Amino acid sequence: MQRKIRIGALISGGGTNLQAVIDACGAGRVDGRIVFVGSDNPGARGLERARAHGIPTFVVDYGAILRAYRQAPQGARLPSDFDPEELRAKISLMPPSTPEAKVADFLKSRAMAEADLLSAMSAYPFDLLILAGFMRNLTPYFIDRVNTDTQRPRIMNIHPALLPAFPGTDGYGDTFRYGCKVGGCTVHFIDYGEDSGPIVGQRAFDILPQDTLEDIRRKGLEQEWQLYPACIQLFAENRLRLTASRLEGRPPRTVVAIAPEPAA
Ligand code: GAR
Repeated sequence: MQRKIRIGALISGGGTNLQAVIDACGAGRVDGRIVFVGSDNPGARGLERARAHGIPTFVVDYGAILRAYRQAPQGARLPSDFDPEELRAKISLMPPSTPEAKVADFLKSRAMAEADLLSAMSAYPFDLLILAGFMRNLTPYFIDRVNTDTQRPRIMNIHPALLPAFPGTDGYGDTFRYGCKVGGCTVHFIDYGEDSGPIVGQRAFDILPQDTLEDIRRKGLEQEWQLYPACIQLFAENRLRLTASRLEGRPPRTVVAIAPEPAA
């Protein structure tokens, strides 16, 4: 039997995807165990789900950190390894027209929060980090300190739309308002952009004329609870490989799932 992978999770809210992964680990559908659950939001209900299963939790209160930065940016205590030029060159979360001062403030305040996240996570070695409804964009400061091997990304996210359509914070709402006839969800690895990293898996569902936004969310979440454990299991089986992009002039960004090793 293969070793169980150690999974860290970051959440911001209710944690139904977290619950689906906990249950899949318990049922043996994922060869893994969750070693910590962290949140940017002290009130995240998903923290209670984790505690109920005896999983260690921590909170890095982004709201408080970002407020303190805004009140006294000059007094900000930046991490000693913070390199603004390096991060500025990598980040692609914002449109090119964004004022430089705004990008600089974003990078500084996020690096402070992300350094606290990394410090809390360092108590729990992990193989894969899953974002399960984590509603904060991560910057290259954090990403590079987790993805130490560029060919082996290890931060996965689940997004409530069929990417590359509708990145951002309200995938099902955007799908509904656009009048789409099909909705879906996507699991992808994180890169330096917004919901732009290599896709691991997707599931779709029909949208009927009478469906409300609530119907779409319900149908979507039901698909998410299937899709996320299945993608995590592909990672646990070491079956995910980055391949050359099919888009001209782009860095490697396609993920393929290779067939399982034949049993010896
Ligand atoms: C899920 O629909 C997830 O896809 C979405 O938040 C919800 C979290 O629900 N994530 C994002 O929008 C990330 N940008 P949950 O807390 O019940 O798992």
